[in-house]
Amino acid sequence: MRPKSPLDFDAETMRHMGYRVVDTLVDYWQRLPELPLGKRPSPEALAPLLSEPTPQTPQPFEAVLNAFLQTVLPNIVKVDHPRYFAFVPAPNDYVGVLADFLAAGMNIFVGTWMVGAGATQVERVVVRWLCDWFGMPESAGGLFVSGGSMANLVCLAAARQRYPDALTRGRVYYSDQTHSCVARAWRILGLREEQLCVLPANEQFQIPLEALSAQIERDRAEGWLPFCVVANAGTTNTGAVDPLNALADLCEQEGLWLHADGAYGAAAILTEEGKQRLQGIHRLDSLAVDPHKWLYQPMMAGCAIVRDFERLREAFRILPPYLQDKEQGVQGIDLCDYGVELSRNFRALKLWMALKTHGVEAFRSAMEWNLHLARVAEQAIRSLPHWRLLSPATMGIVAFRYEPPELNAEQADALNRALVDAMLNDGFALVSSTRLRGRTALRMCTLNPRATEADVHATVQRLDEYARQKQRDF
Ligand SMILES: Cc1ncc(COP(=O)(O)O)c(C=O)c1O
Repeated sequence: MRPKSPLDFDAETMRHMGYRVVDTLVDYWQRLPELPLGKRPSPEALAPLLSEPTPQTPQPFEAVLNAFLQTVLPNIVKVDHPRYFAFVPAPNDYVGVLADFLAAGMNIFVGTWMVGAGATQVERVVVRWLCDWFGMPESAGGLFVSGGSMANLVCLAAARQRYPDALTRGRVYYSDQTHSCVARAWRILGLREEQLCVLPANEQFQIPLEALSAQIERDRAEGWLPFCVVANAGTTNTGAVDPLNALADLCEQEGLWLHADGAYGAAAILTEEGKQRLQGIHRLDSLAVDPHKWLYQPMMAGCAIVRDFERLREAFRILPPYLQDKEQGVQGIDLCDYGVELSRNFRALKLWMALKTHGVEAFRSAMEWNLHLARVAEQAIRSLPHWRLLSPATMGIVAFRYEPPELNAEQADALNRALVDAMLNDGFALVSSTRLRGRTALRMCTLNPRATEADVHATVQRLDEYARQKQRDF
């Protein structure tokens, strides 16, 4: 008889445990709009509640689940809450959640064709769907990674590999609105600070084309090798999209690799606004996409897409002897050769199951609603005295600030930052702040398809109340 593992349960207990988790989740989903947003406790307050030595004796699963529900859950801010408008909200798709459960439950490995053929094929299919949305050619391909940061890193590694002198005298270009993960990627890839050319964005928060091409020319004259432009397909700050067609013209002419960080905005290609703004996206050499953002999938799910899929293999493939068996017999794509990870979980399953279950139209209309809510937020801001719009609703983001005539610019900066803390302490809704044109800005990102117009109005109203209250402290 097979010995029972000390980690196993009988079938009935397994079922019961699973049902408890599903019931807990469904209950959470139903109650979420009424639940407080959550809180940020101090480390000192939280440590005594959760610190303990390694458990030596078993406890009932129910007790462990309750410990999570009672101690952990209240001490996080719910990024899937309909009034969480901060950073990039992460509303979740239930099909994706179940797909993650399945993928984890069977621990499906998608590193090699030898043991993961079916899953690899699904990943190839989902990546093809994405490539089709963006109008990428047949040569294009990609793979799922942990998120947008990793997707950018993987794509930029392919760019660096393409230019043999990139490390010694290469230079890369992007605007100051670019996400920090791009600078980090170049650092990891071995580029020095002076090889990164960060251009101040124009009034529309886009990369300035004339300055870019003049800089490339100057750099060449000085002996640099300009080799890559990183465009934004939706900045985190304002949703701005760089002029992709014009950049593609320039990069074609100059022989540069054109990458775009579409972690935030690329999925908006499904919508009318997105199609307009993302014109030229089909011409990119590579694109980072992030289905755990605007395609509503549970973390972690990013996707690195490269116009010539084989470029990834050139950048990443190494074959050690202990993997030689994968090269024998029936051959297929080994996704471990195209990116950083060997052990790869089945991240594509969630988007595959979600798109099949809902159909793409459901995603389109959820995203159109998100874009509509940003316009609602913009109107609400415009209608209030002393609030200044800094960036109109763009790809689901609107940026603004409270600027009463009594306060100077520095005081207004401090007041606007204080509003984020006030909202967090209150727990009703959350927006986040950033810096735009040297001043503090608040931004609302309306990516949650379960958010209502009433949620948006109530959040703006609450911000206004706090602003007027706080103003008295200055
Ligand atoms: C434009 C952009 N790029 C990259 C990232 C990083 O993505 P991730 O958090 O999935 O690593 C973000 C995250 O907000 C983003 O908005």
